[in-house]
Amino acid sequence: MPEPELLAMHQSTSATGARPDTPRPDAFARVIAHRGASGSAPENTLAAFRLAAELGARAIEFDVSLLGDGTAVVCHDGTLDRCTNRAGPLAAIGLRDLPGIDAGSWFGAGFAREALPTLEAVLDLIEALGLQANLEMKAHDAAPGPLAAAVAAALARRDWAARRITVSSFDHGELAALRRLAPRCPLAVLYEAPAPDWREFLAALDAEAIHLDHTALDAAVLDAARRDGRAVRVYTVNDPAAVLGLRDAGLDGLFTDHPSRFLSDPGWAAWDRRGG
Ligand code: G3P
Ligand code: MG
Repeated sequence: MPEPELLAMHQSTSATGARPDTPRPDAFARVIAHRGASGSAPENTLAAFRLAAELGARAIEFDVSLLGDGTAVVCHDGTLDRCTNRAGPLAAIGLRDLPGIDAGSWFGAGFAREALPTLEAVLDLIEALGLQANLEMKAHDAAPGPLAAAVAAALARRDWAARRITVSSFDHGELAALRRLAPRCPLAVLYEAPAPDWREFLAALDAEAIHLDHTALDAAVLDAARRDGRAVRVYTVNDPAAVLGLRDAGLDGLFTDHPSRFLSDPGWAAWDRRGG
């Protein structure tokens, strides 16, 4: 659906006009472990999230997809092929198949016991570790609705979620669907590069942030976002030198597979602390 229609759909279905209680951009940790500490552990597993916390990260990013039976799992791809010992689409399996899946051996023999985690298991770990998180919805070209409904239901069961989790997606129809279901959920709009109407779209969604490829961010976008009261975060940055200029220009956060490359440096650690 074209972005203008999404905007109109959201505006016409926003019953109360009430604005969500979104966290302030400066309340979120700035160094965010992308798919967990995915440079050192298998991405999107509990091991990767635990390691991120051990390395000092206070926020993680993870991807959420649906299985065929509607179970929300933490997986970047729409298939099992790249990151598990099985093959085929996620849509072909269900919750009962998860115990047979090894999501760690592809990365290293020491991770052979890692599960393909459910969203529930990851939210429980986030709560236990006291982390903040960016939950990224991956719709894999499915029609918007079921994924947003599963995410909204999981977040609604946790009274801490609206303070510690921001939900993003490249699928802007899915974000609009989530906004209708969860008026208080902090949202971030993902772009590889900002669309011409990005400011209007963030305003219509009452998104707290824009998330961009770090090579697509410039001072004009940073300044406009600041004027609008939105945070700006960039993915995926594994070389601190590549974003030093953006940091000094007012960047609010970054996603990295190697959080220790940032957090072991006093300057970057101090920048991270100026967040949450
Ligand atoms: O959410 C930031 C980043 O994860 C977006 O890209 O493909 O790594 O999910 P991707
Ligand atoms: Mg992601």
